[in-house]
Amino acid sequence: MSTALAEAVTPFPAGSAEPLVRLDGIHTFYGKSHILHGVSLTVAPGEVVGLLGRNGVGKSTTLKTIMGLVRPSQGTVRINGQVTTGLPPHKMARLGIAYVPEDRRIFRALTVMENLRTGFDRAGVTDEKRQTLLDKVFKFFPVLAERRNQAGGTLSGGEQQMLAIARAMMLEPKVILLDEPTEGLMPRMVSQIHTIIDMLHAEGVAILLVEQNVPLTLAASERLYIIEKGAVRYECASRDVDANHPVIRQYLGV
Ligand SMILES: Nc1ncnc2c1ncn2[C@@H]1O[C@H](COP(=O)(O)OP(=O)(O)OP(=O)(O)O)[C@@H](O)[C@H]1O
Ligand SMILES: [Mg+2]
Repeated sequence: MSTALAEAVTPFPAGSAEPLVRLDGIHTFYGKSHILHGVSLTVAPGEVVGLLGRNGVGKSTTLKTIMGLVRPSQGTVRINGQVTTGLPPHKMARLGIAYVPEDRRIFRALTVMENLRTGFDRAGVTDEKRQTLLDKVFKFFPVLAERRNQAGGTLSGGEQQMLAIARAMMLEPKVILLDEPTEGLMPRMVSQIHTIIDMLHAEGVAILLVEQNVPLTLAASERLYIIEKGAVRYECASRDVDANHPVIRQYLGV
């Protein structure tokens, strides 16, 4: 381990509250391809954490491993201190973990409203609760209220991203795993996604934000991890680095 790495990866401080999400020494394979090489990270309740890295370094695989979509060969996933390694995605959702994948997975043929309804199809949600949740997301995303009867597939890329986030909010998650929400979006939409992250943060929702957009991640997150070749190479408070910081240039520069 290099000195820089040893300094960068600090253990969770003793005596502090249990993190909401905690990964310890995660190794994940696809077949024989060894993708994650001992990823450890934490997200505290209500914290916005960035996970930055170039193409193909294992960012999405990290989120999929947390969500139970892929099973690690080694290492532990904990939610609020409870070991959840290998639990299936629907059980993770019940623990308050929402996942917005890179490809968004909205139902293109369903209307905005129908897409949102798939988010609260779960036991114990009263009609009153449904209405409260819908009112809340429509307040967050006025454009979705305007387009509530429009098919998901007719929305712009940015609106589809908003719909995917809105649907995740229907779960009333404790944390949202957000995979490259700004990929392919125009600058105006990127700034709207930033605003949405800030609003979720203000509501106390934790976010693990996977991104390649460095300025957005530095501005929107409190802490960040840089991942390369399936391992965390650097961890810091987001305010301590800027886009020209040597470590950003090393792992993310063009
Ligand atoms: N289902 C799969 N089967 C085999 N290999 C895969 C699979 N999914 C991803 N990989 C490989 O695993 C590596 C890590 O992929 P991952 O999607 O986690 O990267 P990423 O950091 O999210 O990249 P990107 O920025 O392109 O989204 C890549 O080399 C990718 O080709
Ligand atoms: Mg990815």
